[in-house]
Amino acid sequence: MESTEKLAKTMSHELIYTSTPISSALTGSVRVPGDKSISHRAVMLSSLATGTSKISGLLEGNDVLATLGAFRAMGVEAEGPVNGELTVHGVGMRGLQAPEIDLDMGNAGTAMRLMSGILAAQQFASKLVGDESLSKRPMRRVTVPLTAMGARCVADENGCPPIHIRGVDALEPIDYKLPMASAQIKSAVLLAGLFADGRTSVTEPAPTRDHTERMLRAFGYACDVEARNGLSSTISVDGGGELVATNIDVPADISSAAFFLVAASIIPESKIILNHVGINPTRTGVIEILRQMGGDVQFLNQRDIGGEPVADIQVSAQQLKGVDISPELIPLAIDEIPVICIAAACAEGVTRITGAEELRHKESDRISAVVEGLRNVGVEVVEHKDGMEITGGKIIGGDVESAHDHRIAMAFAVAGAVAEQEITINDCQNVATSFPNFIELSTELGLDITI
Ligand code: S3P
Repeated sequence: MESTEKLAKTMSHELIYTSTPISSALTGSVRVPGDKSISHRAVMLSSLATGTSKISGLLEGNDVLATLGAFRAMGVEAEGPVNGELTVHGVGMRGLQAPEIDLDMGNAGTAMRLMSGILAAQQFASKLVGDESLSKRPMRRVTVPLTAMGARCVADENGCPPIHIRGVDALEPIDYKLPMASAQIKSAVLLAGLFADGRTSVTEPAPTRDHTERMLRAFGYACDVEARNGLSSTISVDGGGELVATNIDVPADISSAAFFLVAASIIPESKIILNHVGINPTRTGVIEILRQMGGDVQFLNQRDIGGEPVADIQVSAQQLKGVDISPELIPLAIDEIPVICIAAACAEGVTRITGAEELRHKESDRISAVVEGLRNVGVEVVEHKDGMEITGGKIIGGDVESAHDHRIAMAFAVAGAVAEQEITINDCQNVATSFPNFIELSTELGLDITI
């Protein structure tokens, strides 16, 4: 019965991973693909810049290709990407042309939300669509502030994609207080603000990734950051400026590196190096959490690449212990929580995650997907609205649903290495959105994951 089901799935072109327990340590060094957040922004800003930009290290995952496809549909010429190299001939702030097709953002929430900010400011109409998962994600969080700027954009009656955008002649600046710590909403408003008539400010309740701010500066566009009380800060841009083409070296994605950071921490005797990884402090929550759990993670050769800090990261296996993850760390580790849960399942004692309700609005409801997956492989876990409690111990093994979510798939693929029996993960095709060579690099380091 089980194998018939599996065969049926294979025949419908669903990708199934089998991760087999391994008996030897992980060794070696690899460079994981380019940072997804930085890659999206590099394509967006180089398209809007004046002049030609060369991007290297670009993530050639489906999410970023969706962003690139949208700009090509609006008249931007670009060569590549080949081996992560992309040359973009920017059309200038007012050079985009009306697309003749719907702009398909695939699985990419970042693409849809940031593109909304750019498209809401154009004089032409456009429509943003997405795949089944993206079509269920909340978009009013961007259409509300953009509408307050005078944009004419609407999501469907449930607040989900598609987003219909009608052209406007001009946008009003806004002083916007983010209702939640979200880099995507912050970036959508700031990108719209580049086209507004005056100064747009966004106040975030807690720090979120600041790649938009850093990359605006790299393209010669002023972006001011003013610290408020405690964790909060206000980011401002003046509309009407120009982006000047530049070359961007995209560091390796810490969110992809995280799978191997956890794998090497939990597989006894492992010691690996992950090269050229972005260690922007708004992204390193996973490292802070692993260190709090007793992990051994070291930054080697720290350097600055085009305004983003980068290092080679060395990680060695340690017996981890359960911790209470502080809610302030959640936005800084938001995409890494699924794999952190695998670390927690291997730790001594209980790990508590709170303040993570936003996880329910990612590529899947990541709280319920992780809880269900952990239970299926024999781990004790209690689900809460905004997090969970995981009791560390043994992982037994079993079948897991990825919920069409790349990070759930890869997190459980890592878990299989330390389980008593193999873990099978259904529906892994979306790994290609962020980490197309995940299996190859896993194999290179010594994991045993097969398709
Ligand atoms: C992203 C921001 C994060 C993250 C997403 C990428 C970005 O979402 O989960 O994968 O590139 O701005 P938030 O909007 O919740 O910060």
